[in-house]
Amino acid sequence: MSHDTETQLIRLADYRPPEWLVETVHLDVSLHPTQTRVTARLALKRNPKGTVGAPVVLEGDGLTLVRLTIDGTPLAGSSYSATPDRLTLPNPPADDFALEIETLLDPTANTQLMGLYRSSGNYCTQCEPEGFRRITYFPDRPDVLSVYTTRIEADKEEAPVLLSNGNLEKSGPVEDKPGRHYAVWHDPWPKPSYLFALVGGKLAKVADHFVTASGKPVELGIYVEQGKEKLAGYAMDSLKRSMRWDEEKFGREYDLDVFNIVAVSDFNMGAMENKGLNVFNDKYVLASPQTATDGDYAGIEGVIAHEYFHNWTGNRITCRDWFQLCLKEGLTVYRDQEFSADARSRPVKRISDVRVLKAAQFTEDGGPLAHPVRPNAYREINNFYTATVYQKGAELVRMLKTLLGERGFRAGMDLYFQNHDGEAATIEDFLSSFAEATGRNLSQFALWYEQAGTPQLKVSGTYDASAGTYRLDVTQTVPPTPGQSDKQPMVIPLALGLVGPNGADMPLMLGNQPVENGVVEINQAQQSFLFTGLDAAPVPSLNRGFSAPVNVVSDLTQKDRVLLATSDSDPFNRFDAFQGIALDMLKAAAREGRELHVDALSSAAHRLLQDKALDPAFKAQTLSLPGEQEVARELGQNVDPDAIHTARKTLHEALGTTLQAEFTTLYQDLAPEGGFKADAASAGRRALRNLALDYLATTATADGIARALTQFNVADNMTERFAALATLSRHDVPEREQALNAFYNQFQNDPLVIDKWLMLQAQIAAPDTLDRVKGLMTHTAFSLANPNRVRALVGVFAHGNPTQFNRADGAGYDFVADVVLKLDGKNPQVASRLLSSFRSWRQLEPVRRAAAESALRRVAETQGLSVDVADIATRSLA
Ligand code: TRP
Ligand code: ZN
Repeated sequence: MSHDTETQLIRLADYRPPEWLVETVHLDVSLHPTQTRVTARLALKRNPKGTVGAPVVLEGDGLTLVRLTIDGTPLAGSSYSATPDRLTLPNPPADDFALEIETLLDPTANTQLMGLYRSSGNYCTQCEPEGFRRITYFPDRPDVLSVYTTRIEADKEEAPVLLSNGNLEKSGPVEDKPGRHYAVWHDPWPKPSYLFALVGGKLAKVADHFVTASGKPVELGIYVEQGKEKLAGYAMDSLKRSMRWDEEKFGREYDLDVFNIVAVSDFNMGAMENKGLNVFNDKYVLASPQTATDGDYAGIEGVIAHEYFHNWTGNRITCRDWFQLCLKEGLTVYRDQEFSADARSRPVKRISDVRVLKAAQFTEDGGPLAHPVRPNAYREINNFYTATVYQKGAELVRMLKTLLGERGFRAGMDLYFQNHDGEAATIEDFLSSFAEATGRNLSQFALWYEQAGTPQLKVSGTYDASAGTYRLDVTQTVPPTPGQSDKQPMVIPLALGLVGPNGADMPLMLGNQPVENGVVEINQAQQSFLFTGLDAAPVPSLNRGFSAPVNVVSDLTQKDRVLLATSDSDPFNRFDAFQGIALDMLKAAAREGRELHVDALSSAAHRLLQDKALDPAFKAQTLSLPGEQEVARELGQNVDPDAIHTARKTLHEALGTTLQAEFTTLYQDLAPEGGFKADAASAGRRALRNLALDYLATTATADGIARALTQFNVADNMTERFAALATLSRHDVPEREQALNAFYNQFQNDPLVIDKWLMLQAQIAAPDTLDRVKGLMTHTAFSLANPNRVRALVGVFAHGNPTQFNRADGAGYDFVADVVLKLDGKNPQVASRLLSSFRSWRQLEPVRRAAAESALRRVAETQGLSVDVADIATRSLA
């Protein structure tokens, strides 16, 4: 809690419509490194739905007011009050008038990267969620929609490129200001202030074009730093494929003459969907086979699609208030996941999405920062751009589709677009579109948006041989979460199959009715299902395709899981069964020091590897063991990260040793032929080969290390080079430093590649890593001002190095707390995200728990914290 100002808790229940609307905004921005002048002419209009006689209250954030006029006449000092954070007109002159506001900004001093700031000398903006108020006074809330016209003026030398939302109307030299030029952009689509954007700088344009389904031409531009044009090809290709996909799958066409993307190197998040002018973290634009891994390519494709898809889900239909954030984010994540699933392998995409969901969202949901997909209160909205809002929000849309079927889902989406285009909408609007389109009552489903916590399904089965029936007893519980002790049962679409002794699916009949689409609906605390017509005891394959974001606890034996891992017709559950066997072993080993018996796992692995029908990418996902944090989350309490690390390492070694011959053959068979190709099938082969390399090096035999070093040296692409370096980095051998140094020397001029170098070092599970990380913070390659560098080094140490962040002596916690405090003065958003790495502290064993708590308390008790950091610290300790 900040000591200076007790920050307000903002509640969904207190929502009131805006008192004043802004019909048009005319911005005139004269760019200057330290004295940018902004004139905003707002056509204000009293909202008929507002309070009679309400004053005009506009938000600001650190603003310097220069001049204020109404219809051209300067305002008397007595008729308004202005502070850096608020402009009030207690007695507005009319119900409809033009207010002109001039403010003076210093973009160079803006280290928060919100509002107007500079990145590598270029000017850019970030306004979501509340950055526009750092540019001018405004009713900075998403339910005020206005038509924007933006004139930008700048030195032609300094900023030859001037961009804003919408279409370009005019440009040219500024008369009587030699060296200055201007551009006027007009966006015909009313939008909230958070979608405003402006860019000025020395940028190179990669141009292309697209013709929409109805024949409208669109100019596409990707703007990058000069010299990086060749690195934008994959992003452009992804953009065009996204545009086509949204037409084909959702019937959504693009709606302006131009679509521009700008890549910047200083950015708080991944990217931003500003209308017609997306701004990207350059890590999600720039790629070449030599500098980007297959994972990076997939990330670019996904984020480009995500931001493009926001044009309909977020921009054309926006959010009424920030509580509705999942309305645009969950839905848009769902859409980008589906796009990538269509472009690549659907099961492999699902597996990697669920891995992310469990690692990030299940962890969040099980700790002090748990909150509903639609929160009902916040102090700092920036702290709610979370895995729960994004990833769990996407799962809710996916469940809707499962419950309503493909056609019902599409009908609901169509109705949503039809009824709410041009509006600022709510989750209720979204759900009622589906209810109306399909006739289904979704009031119980709505609980998914209200109740936090990952539901648990306890499932047990009983086979009756004489009746040929199988009874499945299911109980559902939703655990208590902060502020929510009692929960109601939710509706859970549980996709399932009954697998016979030979591994084939048996009939799935309830009474004499086949189960439609293989999905039963759980909607009570306790339920039983009686399946009929079964001539042998089945093994249930539950939550196929991860149809619901729940934890399933079943009474499956290891033998049952082996059957599923080797023959389930649902690929996700083959993956899940294999992971389940490993997880049980790792838990037992970490908790009780139980010995690992790998026979069942290695024979399942053997059969997976031999299965010619399986995609290499699928094999790679399935055979990569559950992460240490997943084991910790499953253990739930008294967690000792060292014991988990040892258990996982031992299992990895045992599998690597048992399957040595197969991995050796695999490594040879999958050797690259011909040049590098970025497609999904080639990427899958590389993934499996790199997995084999890592298993073969696991006991650090001279052979295994030499093979990795050779791959590191001869690779012609980053995927292979980086995988080899990652393998080497996990072993305390001289080749580790040798390769790290060579990598640095080769790529020192490419900051995005240097992030990979920082990341690997931050992850090393060795006691000297903390000193190494501290040392790297003073390296020329590092900068506390750049979010990508901070995330790569300190973020990865805190979130991705369980043994060293959680050092028993508390030094890891102290270090991260120090960085949080240092960073908070510069960039509170990045600082508060870093602090969220403490979120599982209560699950630790007592010594570490006490050390983590005292570091958290030290942060919480520091004077002058940002609201962002204070909020995370307070909630983490509550
Ligand atoms: N709307 C962006 C997205 O998901 C998120 C975002 C980008 C953001 N930059 C931000 C959120 C800065 C908060 C602050 O696509
Ligand atoms: Zn988004």
